[in-house]
Amino acid sequence: MVKICCIGAGYVGGPTMAVIALKCPSIEVAVVDISITRINAWNSDQLPIYEPGLEDVVKQCRGKNLFFSTDVEKHVSEADIIFVSVNTPTKTRGLGAGKAADLTYWESAARMIADVSKSNKIVVEKSTVPVKTAEAIEKILTHNSKGINFQILSNPEFLAEGTAIQDLLKPDRVLIGGRETPDGQKAIQALKDVYAHWVPEDRILATNLWSAELSKLAANAFLAQRISSVNAMSALCEATGADVTQVSHAVGKDSRIGPKFLNASVGFGGSCFQKDILNLVYICECNGLPEVANYWKQVIKVNDYQKNRFVNRVVSSMFNTVSGKKIAVLGFAFKKDTGDTRETPAIDVCKGLLGDKARLSIYDPQVSEEQIQRDLSMNKFDWDHPLHLQPLSPTAVKQVSVVWDAYEATKDAHGVCILTEWNEFKTLDYQRIYDNMRKPAFVFDGRNIVNAEKLREIGFIVYSIGKPLDPWLEDMPAVA
Ligand code: UDX
Ligand code: ADP
Repeated sequence: MVKICCIGAGYVGGPTMAVIALKCPSIEVAVVDISITRINAWNSDQLPIYEPGLEDVVKQCRGKNLFFSTDVEKHVSEADIIFVSVNTPTKTRGLGAGKAADLTYWESAARMIADVSKSNKIVVEKSTVPVKTAEAIEKILTHNSKGINFQILSNPEFLAEGTAIQDLLKPDRVLIGGRETPDGQKAIQALKDVYAHWVPEDRILATNLWSAELSKLAANAFLAQRISSVNAMSALCEATGADVTQVSHAVGKDSRIGPKFLNASVGFGGSCFQKDILNLVYICECNGLPEVANYWKQVIKVNDYQKNRFVNRVVSSMFNTVSGKKIAVLGFAFKKDTGDTRETPAIDVCKGLLGDKARLSIYDPQVSEEQIQRDLSMNKFDWDHPLHLQPLSPTAVKQVSVVWDAYEATKDAHGVCILTEWNEFKTLDYQRIYDNMRKPAFVFDGRNIVNAEKLREIGFIVYSIGKPLDPWLEDMPAVA
């Protein structure tokens, strides 16, 4: 029986391995992690991550051919194929600080694999890593190999959170990069055989190692660039009276461009986009390509601009001050259908409003108070370390309260900011919300999900990203 072990039971490792176990009953899959709380949660009814459909898949396989364990070394030594899906934070100190990936966790995983292995292994890079990481890992393994053959593959994951199970069940493509040697090709075939249990062969692409690594960074950079492009347009739309939804609909009708991923928003978030672009920028700079680096940097700059612009809109609309005013924040996760808050635009927006001395009342259906408080007091880039290694938060931010109901959050508030597109925010009783708010009552829709006209009829002053401005806002420029 083929044995697979995945190091790192996070957003990528957990769901990916669950689907492999579901689709390959003849393969034994062990997911290991150094975090005892995370593993305990995977073994309980309360999984550590919220992902539609995940619980069902886990329940079908757990205890049969899917196991979650903290016994990292045992499972690594028994496995034929080892996926590595550990944290790759952005470096905050030293060479490449603020851009380059910190490969500490990767390196320690590789050294551990070398230490405990007694048979040949295929080691698969699953977490996004900078180009040429595989080569570095290969060096660590072969220099400590004691005669064991290690083959390194890059198999980047393209799942998006909130739709992870669907994405894994029906991937657009599976990408496997490996060495162009006979052993390398054999390793690629072994991994192909795993995916071939459910993925059509023409969707499994084999490339060399670097191409696979770079394709992942490139795909995320292209996706993020689409959002920054439409967000840049949204600013122009507001300035000129056009409607960004109409513009992106018209643009997306061109089959060369396509309709997906063109929703203007308060900004993109998530654990990948910014980190991967920073990696790309760093690689370009290291290779003497400053023009290319600056091109991609601009995608992040526009994203930061969009978040700032939103905060400035809120403050300038409310007589240029939110000091002491209660502002309700609906949604904190970086997108709907996930409890993940990594790099969520809500962090910067909330920090911006707190900087202007607002009082915030935050509601998100999936994010806990502890997480929100931790996010709002954490330094940039600290989020991407295993939980037990994250610096302890200083005291909670006093001007922030976290509540478990949108009506409670908006009661007596001066303004409402919608920062995640949760479906339930579309169907709230906005008349009830209006009646319980201070007047004038404002809605700032960072995801364009409310019916602005209906809300205006109720009496709200409404700001929607990239839409013709409410007359109230017209004379209040909000450029940073
Ligand atoms: C992304 C990639 O989609 C995925 O392929 C890769 O494996 C990991 O990174 P993820 O970050 O989980 O996935 O979510 P995604 O759906 O890409 O959304 C990223 C951010 O962009 C979210 O904050 C989302 O709200 C925002 N977004 C997305 C927009 O603002 N507008 C859009 O049109 C689409
Ligand atoms: P991703 O979104 O890429 O899945 P996560 O941060 O959710 O990233 O998951 C990474 C996981 O890797 C964490 O649960 C962390 O505890 C685990 N991890 C980090 N280093 C090691 C290691 N050396 N051995 C085992 N697990 C590790």
